[in-house]
Amino acid sequence: MSGFVEKPEPIQVPGLTHLHTGKVRDLYENEAGDLVMVASDRISAYDWVLPTEIPDKGRVLTRLSLWWFDRLADLVPNHVISTDLPAGAPADWAGRTLVCRALDMVPVECVARGYLTGSGLAEYDQTRTVCGLALPEGLVDGSELPAPIFTPATKAAVGDHDENVSFEEVARQVGADTAALLRRTTLDVYARARDIARERGIILADTKFEFGFDGERLIIADEVLTPDSSRFWPADQWQPGRAQPSYDKQYVRDWLTSPASGWDRRSEQPPPALPQDVVESTRARYLEAYELLTGTAWA
Ligand SMILES: Nc1ncnc2c1ncn2[C@@H]1O[C@H](COP(=O)(O)OP(=O)(O)OP(=O)(O)O)[C@@H](O)[C@H]1O
Ligand SMILES: [Mg+2]
Repeated sequence: MSGFVEKPEPIQVPGLTHLHTGKVRDLYENEAGDLVMVASDRISAYDWVLPTEIPDKGRVLTRLSLWWFDRLADLVPNHVISTDLPAGAPADWAGRTLVCRALDMVPVECVARGYLTGSGLAEYDQTRTVCGLALPEGLVDGSELPAPIFTPATKAAVGDHDENVSFEEVARQVGADTAALLRRTTLDVYARARDIARERGIILADTKFEFGFDGERLIIADEVLTPDSSRFWPADQWQPGRAQPSYDKQYVRDWLTSPASGWDRRSEQPPPALPQDVVESTRARYLEAYELLTGTAWA
């Protein structure tokens, strides 16, 4: 079982048509045909959108994505048109709403990995490959890879796992030229972001991008380089051979799998509400990631 523990009702705003409720973002179309993307405070873990929100998370993800878009602009154009609140939108959408170019999205999760962990490690342990790419012997959880790799995945519906696929499979689905462009752009953006993060004492272990086309032009969309789309590790605590501490939902995952939650991941039951201390620690972690990366105070 998976999906929303409680599916939120879309908010009605005159002039906006609700398109989709994603795990974290709500999508609307405005009268000009642009996409209005509203980042909520929802959090997902183990394929569930949890019933408890993390205050300010939507604003952190939005502000951080905008900060990164600025730093990537010479590498790839992005989908942002405006940060102005659409007329008639609720005041609490401020700071977490972006008016974006509505793109023809490429149905591939474009993942770059510089370090081995997660689903990459699971595949490596079985076959010494990740997405079909051969890797050297002797790598462990958290090892730096000889060079960053493009490890695409197919996008799953809410509640399903994304599935890692080979570059050849992506080429079959979207064409060889587009596949090569996705790989090149993903790795270029990863390298830029990795270097920026590294100067701030953070390892960008891996990250996921989504791209779309505006006519012939490839554009980077969605959110970029946030704790939801990336694994950020404190560099001074990096120690291959174990799970690394991470600026993301680690508290949530740890609590959900601890006896305190009373929840069995493998059961049919939806996960329970998060206790206040887990909410606070998680919020603090998101804010810390923002402040360390951007070098500016949140408040
Ligand atoms: N410029 C864009 N044009 C069209 N769609 C976009 C654009 N930017 C992002 N999206 C889509 O908006 C959605 C963002 O919502 P969110 O991140 O909550 O979804 P998700 O749970 O990751 O995926 P999904 O909603 O498909 O299950 C994604 O489906 C993403 O592909
Ligand atoms: Mg998403």
